Amino acid sequence: MSQTTALLYERLGRREGITRITADLMKNHLANPLLKTRFENSKDLARVERRAVEFFCAGSGGPETYSGQDMVNTHRGMNISEQEFIAATDDVMAALEKNGIDAPTRNDVLAIFWSLKGGVIRV
Ligand code: HEM
Repeated sequence: MSQTTALLYERLGRREGITRITADLMKNHLANPLLKTRFENSKDLARVERRAVEFFCAGSGGPETYSGQDMVNTHRGMNISEQEFIAATDDVMAALEKNGIDAPTRNDVLAIFWSLKGGVIRV
């Protein structure tokens, strides 16, 4: 199977790769001046990270089940801005690049993230 037709889940390195990417994503958020307080204020960052792994696995075609709430209910009342959304997307792209994910795959992830913005920004 060629790079671009393999399931996104496979191209991200399955659960193992997605777990590493998500750990780097959390590190990036905690180091990002535009986002860090949001995540420092979380009551249970380990749970957020675990759920994010599930979400990315399930959303990329893996067999995992996402046990969290949908995007609107997760982010409701946080008043997340467009600027924060872009900052979070940059953190995702950096985490993918750090883990050696190729450009076509990064673009696929970018498109999926962008499609979710209506459930995240100012909901
Ligand atoms: C498409 C983009 C996004 C996706 C797919 C996403 C996904 C998620 C997921 C799966 C969780 C875990 C839910 C749970 O623990 O049950 C979560 C939590 C969270 N998200 Fe997002 N998110 C996105 C954008 C953002 C943005 C832009 C911000 C703003 C900084 C943000 C802030 C948060 C915070 C603070 C939490 C933790 C809430 C808590 O402590 O319970 N998210 N997000």
